[in-house]
Amino acid sequence: VRDLPHVHTDVIVIGAGIAGLFTALKAAETKRVLMVTKKSLLDSNTRYAQGGIAAVISDEDSPAYHRQDTLIAGAGLCSSAAVDVLVHEGPSGVKDLIRMGTEFDMEDGRYALTQEGAHSQRRILHAQGDATGAEIVRALSEKAKGDPNIEVWDDHFVIDLITEGNECFGALVQKPDGQRVFVRANATVLCTGGAGQLYRYTTNPDIATGDGIAIAYRAGANIRDVEFVQFHPTALCYPGAPRFLISEAVRGEGAVLRNINGERFMERYHPQLELAPRDIVARAIVSEMEATKSTFVYIDFTHESEETVKNRFPTIYEVCLSHGLDLSSDWIPVAPAAHYMMGGVETDLYGETNVKRLFACGEVSSTGVHGANRLASNSLSEAIVFGRRIVERILDMPRSEVLPDVRETERATGSPIQPVVEKRLKLQKLMVRYAGLKRSAKGLQKGYDELKRHVSLFDSCLSKRQEFEFANLLICSLLTTQAALIREESRGGHYREDFPERDDLVWRKHTVFNRVNGIT
Ligand code: SIN
Repeated sequence: VRDLPHVHTDVIVIGAGIAGLFTALKAAETKRVLMVTKKSLLDSNTRYAQGGIAAVISDEDSPAYHRQDTLIAGAGLCSSAAVDVLVHEGPSGVKDLIRMGTEFDMEDGRYALTQEGAHSQRRILHAQGDATGAEIVRALSEKAKGDPNIEVWDDHFVIDLITEGNECFGALVQKPDGQRVFVRANATVLCTGGAGQLYRYTTNPDIATGDGIAIAYRAGANIRDVEFVQFHPTALCYPGAPRFLISEAVRGEGAVLRNINGERFMERYHPQLELAPRDIVARAIVSEMEATKSTFVYIDFTHESEETVKNRFPTIYEVCLSHGLDLSSDWIPVAPAAHYMMGGVETDLYGETNVKRLFACGEVSSTGVHGANRLASNSLSEAIVFGRRIVERILDMPRSEVLPDVRETERATGSPIQPVVEKRLKLQKLMVRYAGLKRSAKGLQKGYDELKRHVSLFDSCLSKRQEFEFANLLICSLLTTQAALIREESRGGHYREDFPERDDLVWRKHTVFNRVNGIT
């Protein structure tokens, strides 16, 4: 046992997507903030967000419409109080983003608004056509770098939170050289994003390994609704190409889906056709793939002129072209890919978890906004609305008096038995097979048991970042399969072949795990 070096700050923000950057900037108006990111301020899920950010801006729209669309997509599991917060506070959050330097696209002197699946109105602001997330990250990271109250630690990995009783006092952080340091903070904000890397095919970057959920779970936080995983219906599916997102906004602007025989098929599945809720479109695509024995369907955007396509979706156009596919004249092969975790660390309406002084914001959180299925482009809005509320709560909080005596137990060294890269791939394949778009008790149990067998190999020999990430993925995968096994119904992003109907009598409720009732 040895003492650790200590660093003190008012607020530690872990993660650097829109949730981390926005919360840090707001908090830094009055507090000292340390941002810890495992890569850099420029790398996060946010950077890849294309479609945009949903907020009531147009005169034809209203918070009541946005509320209704969000609740319908959420399939009976949204918290109506959280949705009210989102739809009423979203527009002023967007104004904050604009004040912080984000430049959204304009059309005829007004903000240009696009449409996405299950939205009844055009209410999605976007930037540089289809690079909304990248523009937000550019603006906020520039501002954060210039803020004297914000210190940024790139390439640092948070191993665990430091808790005593039911209170969080900061985090144990590993520096790039392997040294560890205890960051003591009055408030700790998890903004670690999602867990797309649970699956072999994902629109998320490599770093989306569910770290926030895992460290919060280990610290005693409630983890809610993690069986609800959103698969984006249309990720590029082409030999040699990454599962690059073909934004829902492409369908919002009129693109249609066709199976490999060229047939437009969505009319057989939902009256909203290609703009039905994502889970429905994704499962329809899988059914068509199965029926035609194919690994993809096509998205057809060839009705628009080359110029319109290039101007409206420049990034998608360029990426497709780099693989020899022309969005304006070719049908583009696509398939569903893991995209967003609806559940996460349970919070109240001010982003606080059941562990005092521990907050969660953005994809890592479960505020109650998304229910069983997130409405497209609500995630960026959720991050700013709840980021602002978290800072309000932090400003009201008394300083903590407790000074926990932090020591670190020496960890055993040694190499994991199987290389971690292989193990991660195996986990991802198991999750696709057993906890993907279509699930059953038999498969989920098999998946859970196989995943569980990995645990003992990883008890005490962690030292490298990839090993911690794997351990975190393992916790998330076990929580997801266990929650999916328990929920004997189909709802939103969770579909059980053995329980294909929604069951409001028994299942209009959340699944909540913590250290007491969690992984068995
Ligand atoms: C997209 O552009 O289709 C993604 C938007 C989102 O996931 O909210």
